[in-house]
Amino acid sequence: MKMKKLIAQCICIFGIISTVYTGEKEWDSFVLTLTWPVTMCKFCNLANKKCVVPAKIWEIHGLWPGYSNGDCAPRNCSISHPFNKDEIKDLLDQLNKYWPNQLPKRPQYDFWAHEWEAHGRCATIVKDTGTELKYFNKTLDLRLINDVGSILSSAGISPGKSYELTAVEGALKRGTGGQPLVLCGNVENKTWISEILICMNKSFKVTDCPQPNCRPKSRKKTLPPDDPCEEMVFYPESEKELY
Ligand SMILES: *[C@@H]1O[C@H](CO)[C@@H](O)[C@H](O)[C@H]1NC(C)=O
Ligand SMILES: *[C@@H]1O[C@H](CO)[C@@H](O)[C@H](O)[C@H]1NC(C)=O
Ligand SMILES: *[C@@H]1O[C@H](CO)[C@@H](O)[C@H](O)[C@H]1NC(C)=O
Ligand SMILES: *[C@@H]1O[C@H](CO)[C@@H](O)[C@H](O)[C@H]1NC(C)=O
Repeated sequence: MKMKKLIAQCICIFGIISTVYTGEKEWDSFVLTLTWPVTMCKFCNLANKKCVVPAKIWEIHGLWPGYSNGDCAPRNCSISHPFNKDEIKDLLDQLNKYWPNQLPKRPQYDFWAHEWEAHGRCATIVKDTGTELKYFNKTLDLRLINDVGSILSSAGISPGKSYELTAVEGALKRGTGGQPLVLCGNVENKTWISEILICMNKSFKVTDCPQPNCRPKSRKKTLPPDDPCEEMVFYPESEKELY
């Protein structure tokens, strides 16, 4: 009886210690999250948030340090690097094109400031993302390398129709080298493709994405929806489309 109790205590203490270490363990992967702007506006407009689609191209949501086992990503890391808009002034044209703010009411730099402060600052331990400029520049680069719009269209997957989720995932896996995570928003009995997550190791080599075992509470109405997709996913051409 005593022995059992002792063992239980040991397990419990060990559990506490390992929890502490888990919390502090260094992150080991990146997630490049790309958004289909039409779907984002569909859902923002349903929530009465004014939203614009600057161009019908897959755009960047962010590049997020994470864990290859699907655990919750680190956030708000080195608070000693506040966002400085002057650092990215040479990238403005590219950022406005590929990483745009779709909400006209939000000040121009707010989206980038958020992505830097919540995620980018966690990435400064990696050389290629070691400064704010490098982080944004590298992310732009990764979006061009992982050109999901072209990958999908060369597999015959173009906006305006529904496709099997497995066909979308298969095309992306062949095109990028790793199993992506595809997220959707559900409306009008259809599951609209919303985001594509491409996972990488810390040298930016694409890997299979883990099943996330961290589901945050539902996202804000000012963000693209992130629900699991159904078997058939709708890739909308226009947010006004009704099928
Ligand atoms: C990160 O910082 C934001 C803004 O200060 C805060 O709302 C959020 O709770 C923080 N998140 C974590 C995980 O610390
Ligand atoms: C961004 O990175 C590329 C290399 O990928 C480099 O040629 C370019 O000068 C960088 N741009 C800035 C503004 O640092
Ligand atoms: C969704 O499906 C339900 C049940 O089949 C149907 O009653 C409803 O009209 C559909 N709504 C739309 C917008 O298609
Ligand atoms: C990333 O994966 C590549 C190919 O498997 C490997 O060569 C490289 O060392 C990995 N990088 C890290 C940081 O694990």
